[in-house]
Amino acid sequence: MKEQIEKIGQAGEAALATLATLPELEAWEIEYLGRKSELNTLLKGLRDLSPEDKKVVGPLGNSTKQKLIALFDAKKKELLEKSVDWQAEGIDITAPGRVTRVGHLNPLTRVEHEIEDIFTSMGFDIASGPEVETEHYNFDALNFPKDHPSRDMQDTFWLASTSHGGVKSDKKSTDRYLPRTHTSGVQVRYMETHKPPLRVIVPGRVFRNEATDATHEHTFYQFECLMVDVEGEVTVATFKHVAEEFFSKFFGEKVRIRLRPSFFPFTEPSFEFDISCILCDGAGCATCKQGGWIELGGAGMVNQHVLESAGYKRGVYQGFAWGFGVGRMAMMKYGINDNRLFLSGDLRFIRQF
Ligand code: PHE
Repeated sequence: MKEQIEKIGQAGEAALATLATLPELEAWEIEYLGRKSELNTLLKGLRDLSPEDKKVVGPLGNSTKQKLIALFDAKKKELLEKSVDWQAEGIDITAPGRVTRVGHLNPLTRVEHEIEDIFTSMGFDIASGPEVETEHYNFDALNFPKDHPSRDMQDTFWLASTSHGGVKSDKKSTDRYLPRTHTSGVQVRYMETHKPPLRVIVPGRVFRNEATDATHEHTFYQFECLMVDVEGEVTVATFKHVAEEFFSKFFGEKVRIRLRPSFFPFTEPSFEFDISCILCDGAGCATCKQGGWIELGGAGMVNQHVLESAGYKRGVYQGFAWGFGVGRMAMMKYGINDNRLFLSGDLRFIRQF
């Protein structure tokens, strides 16, 4: 058996040396290394040998097989290289490869996805509302007094049309239409169809009649956050906690929240809220203009008038709402210094993300 194996090894090696084409090599592989090859058949017979013979024949069989495999691999490589005449084909195999361009998400979209993931992990629902909104949802239902200057607080673009396809108007409204100035109207839309306890975020595009500069845009993205339960369950402390959790997760480090008194018709009490500067942790740096805090958005406890607009009974429920700009968050996270870049359509900007 020892001699037989040695003979197969030599025959295989000799036959391989004379091969010149890939089909020939394939036939050789079947003959010498295939499942039914002489060598494999012999090796299968090993188990009938005495232990002493096994000790000799086994290793020889294996080494012969490994040697034939190595020779086969080398021959295959050699034939493959020869099989195409690159020069005749006009192919320059030394030319650099072609770069495949992959698409990039706008940093606003990336940040929106990150924000949604965090809130979803905290048990919040994600809702949306129409970008062309009725005066009812954008203002009336949010307790903006009629014909009151606070309605101009948000630099509204009013639409000339008094009817707009697709947007559900409301009998109580004056039926004026506008590109929504904030996402707060969706608070009411959502509460009309859901009962507390509820937690929801509303990402959305909003529009204001503003001159643009590095920190102001006429079209930008906001996130509304709303949490409502029976009275006593959701307090200002809940808001601070949720906000701290959210911002700490978003920036990947502990962030503190600071509230300052403010006014919004739809919250009482109302706050402007700041977060501790993520670059200097409150010590003061160029990003926070040495103040240690960064202004981020508005917040407050949902005004009972708003809960009533949504059809809830007065005095039964309590909740908080807050809104903040997505652009601000993206600027801080990715070190972007001009918010006009987001919607510039400049691919050199987008490709960096
Ligand atoms: N809608 C307000 C704005 O756009 C922000 C806000 C949302 C304030 C929710 C309080 C509660 O300025």
